[in-house]
Amino acid sequence: MSGQGISRAAEALDWQAKVCGRLGSPMYAGLLAALAGDVVAGGPTRAVLGDLVADDAELPPVLGLRVVGGLHRLVLDGEAPSLEEHYPSVGGRWDLAAAWPSVLAVVDQHRDALHRALDLTPQTNEVGRSAALMGGLLRIADRFALPVRLVEIGASAGLNLRADHFRFGSPSGWWGPPDSPVAMPDAWAGPRPPVDAPLELVERRGFDLAPLDVSRAEDRLTLEAYTWPDMTERLARLRAACEVAAEVPAVVEQRGAADGLDALELEQGTATVLWHSVTWMYLAEAERERIDARVAELAQDAGPDRVLARVTLEPADEVAGPFPVVLTTWPFGEATVIGSAPPHGLPTTWTG
Ligand SMILES: C[S@@+](CC[C@H](N)C(=O)[O-])C[C@H]1O[C@@H](n2cnc3c(N)ncnc32)[C@H](O)[C@@H]1O
Repeated sequence: MSGQGISRAAEALDWQAKVCGRLGSPMYAGLLAALAGDVVAGGPTRAVLGDLVADDAELPPVLGLRVVGGLHRLVLDGEAPSLEEHYPSVGGRWDLAAAWPSVLAVVDQHRDALHRALDLTPQTNEVGRSAALMGGLLRIADRFALPVRLVEIGASAGLNLRADHFRFGSPSGWWGPPDSPVAMPDAWAGPRPPVDAPLELVERRGFDLAPLDVSRAEDRLTLEAYTWPDMTERLARLRAACEVAAEVPAVVEQRGAADGLDALELEQGTATVLWHSVTWMYLAEAERERIDARVAELAQDAGPDRVLARVTLEPADEVAGPFPVVLTTWPFGEATVIGSAPPHGLPTTWTG
């Protein structure tokens, strides 16, 4: 071994540290950089990586998030009591220097569990992104005044299929049920979407290769574990959205995005709205082409009484954002950038 594999693994953790720092998690910026240093120094983090530090090893995507997600899961499961005073997600206060000896001890003690966590694909369902979706839905309801069938690809746990049960704040007031446990005070900036539009959701349906079911404690913990522990507002939103999900049914089928859309048809007297956020980058080119072709096919069938629309929040170039919010409606098929948002959705700034 020339050490090339060790450097590559450490660089992957360092890269993730910088991304987390840019996206608002100073805790993970510091922790991942320290873990990268531990890989180079031959500490317990290198042992957790095992064969992944071999020169010819292929690293899984987002290696750093797999390591810190596994660690967070131990904390949430009560398996790492010495870290609880340091993890804000369980009421602690993060200070790298104070936490580091306990981090090293936990990594060493739970080496096998953390190694197994490297095989898991990080799963998140970011409730803040519903701020972007809702602006699109209100415009569609305003323009067509039809009941909406909401269809999401890459839906994860389907939390955002309940977006009309969340509350969105802006400088000119709130939209959404006043008693919703999910209240996002600064959700919208810029000219507000048409808040008086007659929005009614009559179907909530999602597709995901690995759907999560938040009525299961195990799946809720999975979502929490991949939410960054110092971003406590994101965690609070996630926990509150799980409460909403318990009251508002939605179906998320275990299906690839293109297969799911192949089975979809428009319905007379409704607007079928396809929504996706931070999913496109996970799809292979062939699947993206199949989806676009299916949307084009469905669009042929669209009319003023059987509308098709697509709302997306996906990276344009930079994964660190901002991402455009794009709305396309058929008949007519105009794609319009109606706003932009940071990767976690808040605030969504409307362009008018
Ligand atoms: C980053 S998550 C985003 C989840 C959700 N859209 C959100 O914004 O919170 C991407 C999701 O896409 C799903 N996914 C990846 N490839 C897929 C595919 N080919 N078909 C359907 N879902 C897929 C993953 O399982 C994951 O739940």
